[in-house]
Amino acid sequence: MMNIIPHSEIYKKFIVQEPQLFRFWNILTNEQKKELCSQLSKNSTLLLSLQNESRHNEPHAEERKFEPFGECAYSGNEENRKLGKQLIALGRVGCVLLAGGQGTRLQHKGPKGTFPVSLIKRKSLFQICGEKVKAAGLQAGRPLQLAVMTSEDNDIMTRDFFHQNQFFGLSPSQVSFFVQGSLPLLDSAGKPFLQTPWQLAMGADGNGNSLIYFAKAGLLKHWQTLGIEYMHVILIDNPLADPFDAELAGYHHRQKVDITLKCTEKVDPEEKVGVLVKQDGRCKVVEYSEMPTQEKYALHPTGKLKHCTTNLSLFCFSLSFLDKITWGPNQLPLHKAWKAAQYVDVDGNVCQSDKPMAWKFETFIFDWLNYTEKVAAMIYPRSECFAPLKNAKGNDSPETVHHAIQEMDKIIFREITQLPPPNFPFELAADFYYPTERLSAKWKNRQTDQNYVES
Ligand code: UD1
Repeated sequence: MMNIIPHSEIYKKFIVQEPQLFRFWNILTNEQKKELCSQLSKNSTLLLSLQNESRHNEPHAEERKFEPFGECAYSGNEENRKLGKQLIALGRVGCVLLAGGQGTRLQHKGPKGTFPVSLIKRKSLFQICGEKVKAAGLQAGRPLQLAVMTSEDNDIMTRDFFHQNQFFGLSPSQVSFFVQGSLPLLDSAGKPFLQTPWQLAMGADGNGNSLIYFAKAGLLKHWQTLGIEYMHVILIDNPLADPFDAELAGYHHRQKVDITLKCTEKVDPEEKVGVLVKQDGRCKVVEYSEMPTQEKYALHPTGKLKHCTTNLSLFCFSLSFLDKITWGPNQLPLHKAWKAAQYVDVDGNVCQSDKPMAWKFETFIFDWLNYTEKVAAMIYPRSECFAPLKNAKGNDSPETVHHAIQEMDKIIFREITQLPPPNFPFELAADFYYPTERLSAKWKNRQTDQNYVES
């Protein structure tokens, strides 16, 4: 019987331009051939534009002039906090957790959210977040909604992890999952390559399109039906991220803006964080990889860094804004980065490079700032909001994260008990982060001799 795959339009189209993709063609099964052709067919137009992008060898540096973004409020406003608590208690706030990234720098096999990170109980990043959502719900007196963005690579593992752990005490109806897309990777010559003998090398397409995937998965409509108006966005790799930050919600509501950014101050010019700038009268974020060196090191007359307002990719979005932007033809720019990747060697073995070897293309969530009418930013103390887990060792590693969580637990313990915190390693249960009146009354003036402190 004639095999139709080799003669398909796709095969004919690509065999001449991209013969490297058909190196193992003769030993593939029919199913595998179909898979490769269907992947090529889906990405055929896109490949051309990515190849075009990859020809510019440097990540595109900012060409237009920008100024520091100076219009920030500082956290610590009790009125905003009270208002935010009311909004959360009325069910008007939900949280989206971005967990689609690969976590290659952390060298952790499996979704980054499964990485055990807490000091005493070794709770995973997912557990820390799930338990916070539960505790915030207890404080609010109602179950709150969490939506988790996964990628094609980690979706099944992530859902399984939530199931195996009984959703960390949440009801399954409180947790939704949605999957982000992926884009082909290109080699140094701008060519697509294989990650298995029959699969194109692909990578998650960045956290920018999360809003579109959220809407397309039906979650925007679902949340609006539930009466949710504001969406907090947090990153999985920051265990100090607050999924239900009352002050942020209150401030956002009062400011009547499309997006509020939760920020902290940057002190190290080399820290790998984006910064807020003002360009053509608009707030935008310049990512660390695209910041010209001179601007990175430039100082303000006060001696602080000129661009010192850090983007943490922690936001509050108005769902009415999502309604405007997610259904239209809006497209975010693609940013490219030179990254490590999985590939197939000449003998057909699947290998993982430990050094960068491919162009990866991503959209960035903060590029939605270009579509806003009004934005606000609020600066928080770093110790209360930012402990990124990016690397296996050194900066932003489990060691620095343990320290940061311990410091935050000390702050909370002191706030609630009004006593000095224990002088031994300890960990607070999530309820302490969202104290109910009962918890506050019980723990006022109370010490502990436990390493794991339960409410
Ligand atoms: C990100 C910010 C940076 C900020 C820093 C703070 C972006 C684009 N950049 O940088 O401005 O200063 O955090 O820590 O947000 N993710 C997905 N899908 C993807 C890619 C990423 O869900 O395809 C998620 C990751 O799981 C991660 C987060 O987005 O939680 C950040 O992604 P990453 O690529 O690690 O950005 P950073 O370089 O850390």
